[in-house]
Amino acid sequence: MDEETARALGIDTSVTHPARRYNYLLGGTDNFAADRESGDMILKVFPEARVSALENRAFLVRAVQYLAAEAGIDQFLDIGTGLPTADNTHEIAQRINPASRVVYVDNDPLIAHHAKALLTSTPEGRTHYLEADLRDPAGILEHPEVREVLDLGRPVGLVLLAVLHFIEGDAQATAIVRQLLDALPSGSHLVVTHVTLDASAPEVRAASDAMQASGKLDAWPRTREQFERFFDGLELVPPGIVLLSDWRPAPGVERPPTPAIGGYAAVGRKP
Ligand SMILES: C[S@@+](CC[C@H](N)C(=O)[O-])C[C@H]1O[C@@H](n2cnc3c(N)ncnc32)[C@H](O)[C@@H]1O
Repeated sequence: MDEETARALGIDTSVTHPARRYNYLLGGTDNFAADRESGDMILKVFPEARVSALENRAFLVRAVQYLAAEAGIDQFLDIGTGLPTADNTHEIAQRINPASRVVYVDNDPLIAHHAKALLTSTPEGRTHYLEADLRDPAGILEHPEVREVLDLGRPVGLVLLAVLHFIEGDAQATAIVRQLLDALPSGSHLVVTHVTLDASAPEVRAASDAMQASGKLDAWPRTREQFERFFDGLELVPPGIVLLSDWRPAPGVERPPTPAIGGYAAVGRKP
C-alpha cells in the first residue's frame, strides 16, 4: 500500500507503528519511511533484531503445532497478530485440525486492510479479525464477535507473541495476562514471547535505556524473572522458559548462536 492510500484510510504514516516496523524487520513491504527509520535505529543498537524476529515466527509455528497436535487445542485467541505473513496461526492450526477457530486481535488499523489473508479459513474452521487493544482485556473478552467465534467454556490457546513488551510497567502487563487467563477454563494454554536484553552486552543495555529515556523506544525489554511472572499459577510445558530458538527446536534445523536471540519464549497450561 502506498502512503497516499494509507493516509486516505486515516493512517498516520509519519509515526512508526510496531506492526509495520516488525514487517520491515521480517523483510516485508507493508511499512513506511518512519517504520524503516525506527527499524534501522533498533538494528543499529541491536543488530540481532532481525534474526530474533525470524526466530519469533519460527517459534509461533512450533508452539501452535504443539497446541493443536499435542495439547488438543482447537481455538485460539491471538492478540497482537501483526501483519499477515507466511504462516499465520490459523494456517498452522488448521493444517493439523481443519476445524480450528482463530480470533485475531491487533490495534494497527492497517491490519484490517490486509485481514483477508488472515481470514482464509478452512470450511470446517473459522477465523475472525477484530481491531481492539490489549490494554482493554475486558473489551476483547466480552466482544460479541469473540464470543461468537470462540467458546470460552472450552480450552483456548491464548497467543501473546512479541506484544507484551509494548505494555509499560510490570504491574499493568501481568494484570492484563491475569485478566485474560481468568476468563479461560482449565486446559487453556498461554503462549508468550518477549524481548529481553538479558543476553546482551552492557553497552547494548545502556543504549536501550538511553533510547527509552529520549522516547525513541516504545518497547520494554524484560528480564527472565519478570517474564516468569506471566506464568504464575500455570504448568510450564517442557522445556519451560528458554530463548526463542531453544523451545522444542525442529530436528536438523541450525540454530543461531545464543546471544543473537533477544527474546524469551514459553508455553504454560492452566491447571
Ligand atoms: C512485533 S509484532 C508481533 C506480531 C506477531 N504476534 C508475531 O509475533 O509475529 C507486535 C504486534 O502487536 C501489536 N500491538 C502492539 N501494541 C498493541 C496493543 N496495545 N493492542 C493490540 N495490539 C498491539 C502491533 O500492532 C503488532 O502487530
